[in-house]
Amino acid sequence: MDLAVETTLTVNGTRVTRRIEPRQHLVDFLRDELGLTGSHIGCEHGVCGACTVRVNGEIVRGCLMLAVQADGCKVETIEGLSDSKELAGLQKAFHEKNALQCGFCTPGMLMAAQDLVLAKEKISREKIREHISGNYCRCTGYQAIVDAIEEVLNGQG
Ligand code: FES
Ligand code: FES
Repeated sequence: MDLAVETTLTVNGTRVTRRIEPRQHLVDFLRDELGLTGSHIGCEHGVCGACTVRVNGEIVRGCLMLAVQADGCKVETIEGLSDSKELAGLQKAFHEKNALQCGFCTPGMLMAAQDLVLAKEKISREKIREHISGNYCRCTGYQAIVDAIEEVLNGQG
C-alpha cells in the first residue's frame, strides 16, 4: 500500500515537492532524497545534535521531525547557510581556532552557534557552553569550539 504523502517545502530557497513516506525523518529526506549530506546522523534520538537544521527560522533536530511535518515550511541546512555565506564568520573562526577534528559534529555545531550570532548578545563562555550542550563533539573537548564562537560574538561590535 502506498502511504506516501505529497509534501511541498522550500529547502535552501528552492521549492521542492515530493511524495514522502510518513515515517521518513527530515534528515533522512534531506540526505537521501535531496543529496544534502552535510546534516549528519548520529544518535537518531535527539541527543547528539549532528542532524541540526533550521525550520522556519528555528533550529530543530532533523532526526526527531518527520519530513511530512515540514510541509509548507522553509528548511535551511548547512549547505544553504554555507553557500549564502551566512556562516562565513563562524567557519573562519572554527578553522583558525582548530575547533574541529573529524568534523562530524561541526555542521550541527555551526547551526546551533549561528543562533547565538543572530541574537547579537554578548554572553559568557558558560552560556555559550550551555547553548551548545545539545551538540556532542567527541574530538575537541569543546574548548576550541567555545573559543571560536566567543571570538565571533565579541567581534560583532
Ligand atoms: S542524530 Fe539527531 S540528535 Fe543525534
Ligand atoms: S570534531 Fe569530531 S565529533 Fe566534533
